[in-house]
Amino acid sequence: MQVLVTGGVGYIGSHTVVSLLEAGHSVIVVDNLVNSKIETLDKIKQITNKDIIFYQVDVTDESAVENIFTNHSIDGIIHFAGLKAVSESVERPLTYYYNNLVSTLVLVKVCQKYNVNRFVFSSSATVYGDNKVPFVESMNLFPTTNPYGETKAISERILIDITKANPAFSLAILRYFNPVGAHESGLIGEAPNGIPNNLMPYVTQVAKGKLNKLRVFGNDYPTTDGTGVRDFIHVTDLAEGHVAALDYLTAGTHIYNLGTGEGTSVLELIHAFEVANEIKVPYEIVERRPGDIASCYADTTKAKQELGWVAKRDIIEMCRDAWRFEKNYKE
Ligand code: NAD
Ligand code: WQD
Repeated sequence: MQVLVTGGVGYIGSHTVVSLLEAGHSVIVVDNLVNSKIETLDKIKQITNKDIIFYQVDVTDESAVENIFTNHSIDGIIHFAGLKAVSESVERPLTYYYNNLVSTLVLVKVCQKYNVNRFVFSSSATVYGDNKVPFVESMNLFPTTNPYGETKAISERILIDITKANPAFSLAILRYFNPVGAHESGLIGEAPNGIPNNLMPYVTQVAKGKLNKLRVFGNDYPTTDGTGVRDFIHVTDLAEGHVAALDYLTAGTHIYNLGTGEGTSVLELIHAFEVANEIKVPYEIVERRPGDIASCYADTTKAKQELGWVAKRDIIEMCRDAWRFEKNYKE
């Protein structure tokens, strides 16, 4: 298939481009580089030995997007492009709603015009809110606690309605749990701008000595050791989940959790990182972070049954690969 990947220079997108190329698909990447670096494309070429067509385009720009559809015959889209920092979304809700919703609307509109009927959307476990774990696709969604999360919940609803009204349209909504790790080559990985918000990049930067100490947000949650529990998933497993979803897609809406089904606490993750890499991660316990929930992990039955996909890489591999990338990474 010829696959258009929006946000394909970013963290999850770049790993998915690698998996798509390795599975024999050809790829067109569209990214405005607002949160990524062009050098990543060379790294992808180094890993795969394959060429990629690239457009530096903002996906909210309808005529620029349409131009791509007139230049190429596209079989399917994976739509990663979006802004994703939860705290920034609270400070700049308009920017988040505009970017994340308009990009999705433009893409679906152009897809319809050019008869492109396979659409894979990056959603998030955040749409489950504070439901009872494990989270199952059929659950009623709880409100999310921030504009970023709302953009995912609203995009899902928009896409589901559009799919209902267009019987030929095939939609996969993929709800990611906590993506971590990096490609085993150490060439591509997660490189957030500024001080990281998420746990794993914070841990790797503390290990590197870029940051002094990790702050563990709360140890009084109703979990095994009191710290938050999350379903960390290796980004390469996640990438492979996209290839499986794209291959499987049939008309209608299909929603899948992409997680491992295993919960790991913050302290367990720190411990795994220390064991995997033989390096200490100094930390202190501080207050809970507003908006956090105690536990979040997936029921993965549906993806396994329908897509034949399961996450294969364990927490040690996630920690080892995350560290290999951080160690080599130069800003
Ligand atoms: P990322 O920031 O690394 O990648 C997103 C890419 O999209 C970047 O390269 C950015 O430059 C590009 N982009 C943003 N807005 C754009 C626009 N209007 N036009 C063109 N390009 C644009 O983020 P990621 O972690 O790879 O996340 C990919 C997707 O998965 C996002 O939609 C994100 O919300 C979703 N998601 C991420 C996580 C996570 O923890 N990383 C979890 C659940 C869902
Ligand atoms: C994980 C755990 C923290 C940092 C977020 C988004 C979600 C999704 C994934 C995009 C929590 C604890 C963290 C730190 C800590 N993104 N922590 N010290 O909050 O589960 O999910 O990223 O869709 O929408 O909300 O991920 O990595 O920020 O936190 O103790 O410095 O680590 O409290 O328990 P989260 P996270």
